[in-house]
Amino acid sequence: MATTHAIGIDIGGTGIKGAIVDLATGELVSDRRKVATPEGGRPADILDATVDLLAELDDADSEAPRLPVGVCFPAVVKRGLTLSAANISKEWIGLPAEQKFEEELGRDIHFINDADAAGVAELRYGAAVGTEGLVILTTLGTGIGSAFIYDGVLVPNSELGHLEIDGHDAEDRAAYSAMEREELSWTDWAKRLDRYYQVVEALFSPDLFIVGGGVSKHHEQFLPLLQIDTPIVPAVHRNNAGILGAASLASE
Ligand code: BGC
Repeated sequence: MATTHAIGIDIGGTGIKGAIVDLATGELVSDRRKVATPEGGRPADILDATVDLLAELDDADSEAPRLPVGVCFPAVVKRGLTLSAANISKEWIGLPAEQKFEEELGRDIHFINDADAAGVAELRYGAAVGTEGLVILTTLGTGIGSAFIYDGVLVPNSELGHLEIDGHDAEDRAAYSAMEREELSWTDWAKRLDRYYQVVEALFSPDLFIVGGGVSKHHEQFLPLLQIDTPIVPAVHRNNAGILGAASLASE
């Protein structure tokens, strides 16, 4: 019988979160556990923290040790290697990260970029269900992550947070962390977002933008201020999207 539950773990710039997911409904069926991302984001420290998190999940549920595990990560992930490091230690660049996680966790994992996992979650259980054409999901958090989904198929590692716009790396100006760091008002932050989405719109002519990340729960503060032509909607799963997408892919 096909597995109906899987574990998703989302490694982010500030926290590492995990839970057991019901793959039929996309709902969390365990408490969401969270540990802080270790300062500096170095490989050994993140690996240790992830081992602790999985142990917590395993201890809390007798089914957990037998479930498939998906891990999503804030970097380009290609053939198991992490190829970039914007908000984590540069030591990740070129590392066989998937293999390292598997060795440390003692389990096979499915390993994917965090925004791509969030895109898969919205595609299967959220705002992108049944949407044809090009959907671009962006996550606004510590950085800006992006997922490109064309006719229901993910094109991985799009990295639209690092477009150079007006001489800046886009996420340095428009991520939610920039709003916090510079204490911007919603209006001032929305101006930067508007510029960002206008550039992405001009380059890719998407059919739908989905805005994820925890800040998307305040979408009414900034989405109405954007002057783009493309429909733009908040993500359904916000902070849990990475967990859901990673778990869903792990089960395949
Ligand atoms: C990274 C992406 C990641 C995004 C969100 C960016 O800085 O380059 O790989 O998806 O942050 O975590």
